[in-house]
Amino acid sequence: MNFLDPNQTALVLAPMEGVMDAPMRALIADLGGFDYGVSEFVRVGQEVVSAARILQEIPDLNGPVFGRARLPIQLQILGDSPELMAGTAIEACIAGARAIDINFGCPAPTILRRSGGSALLRTPCALTDILSAVRKALPAQIPVSAKVRLGWENPNEIDEIAKAVEAGGASWLTIHARTKQERYQPGVHWDAVARVRSKISIPVIANGDLFSSEDVARCIAETGCSHFMIGRGILKNPFLAHDIRQSLKLPILRADVPLNHSDRLRMGIERYVQLIQDQADNAGFIPSRVKQWVGMVRDISDEVPRPVLMAVKNARTAGELLQMVSAF
Ligand SMILES: Cc1cc2nc3c(=O)[nH]c(=O)nc-3n(C[C@H](O)[C@H](O)[C@H](O)COP(=O)(O)O)c2cc1C
Repeated sequence: MNFLDPNQTALVLAPMEGVMDAPMRALIADLGGFDYGVSEFVRVGQEVVSAARILQEIPDLNGPVFGRARLPIQLQILGDSPELMAGTAIEACIAGARAIDINFGCPAPTILRRSGGSALLRTPCALTDILSAVRKALPAQIPVSAKVRLGWENPNEIDEIAKAVEAGGASWLTIHARTKQERYQPGVHWDAVARVRSKISIPVIANGDLFSSEDVARCIAETGCSHFMIGRGILKNPFLAHDIRQSLKLPILRADVPLNHSDRLRMGIERYVQLIQDQADNAGFIPSRVKQWVGMVRDISDEVPRPVLMAVKNARTAGELLQMVSAF
């Protein structure tokens, strides 16, 4: 598994700390449509993170832990020390990682206080230092990539950032097409992604607000990209990767994709409950996770069907949730 083949269209599942964890990835793997996924970040603080700790945080790194469907996982790490990041990348490979991604995009205040994530975008040479240290520490067959935002406050910062990433030996670059200051405000800058693509020779994965196949078509028209990373859109429409595959004329992976939105969400929730209920450690775990999921969908869309909202509000156990959801 090469993760990203520069000559083939790729749909990549985005890392989403606190949301896209092993149970949720099991659902997405089961519904299918993605080429691979990136794990939520493993934070590298004052010391190298051990292989055992990495596996504790990302239990599905080497294969499914819920259900059977397999989605290759690229491990993401976040930190600011080249030595500790390189040491952790070695541990990650001992744990079984076959590709490493470095997070230079996280805008969370707790991360910024310790100068990780998007704080590093202000000093592009730090990106080169971290990437080259990690690159040098690993065997050549393990790809190392970077995930960035366009810059700290100005989308034009991406020109220098992308050059720094390429100089560090990254195999590809994922760009969330907003600056750190823009956080998640509406609108992405595909023009900046288009410009930077022509200035570097490594592949670029486009990311940000890809909520439909029309959004992907627009992204292709405006950037020329053929690799796409999807985050929040898959929570809204668990079959989004299939829609995109169909619109891009990629091989269709399943025939039983429901047509309407509420059936898609219902089928997603039902399958999620079935996949993880044997291993959920307390009765309220599944309803609380589904509540969080639906809460995120409401942040980006006003289309959540009312019966789903009611089920999520009232169910106290997985059984109650299933009963209420399957009744609509
Ligand atoms: C709740 C949440 C957690 C996230 N966690 C991570 C993370 O661990 N690593 C990372 O690189 N990006 C993280 N992101 C950013 C996403 O990967 C993605 O870049 C962003 O959501 C834009 O893509 P989208 O519009 O398709 O959601 C997170 C985003 C959200 C909403």
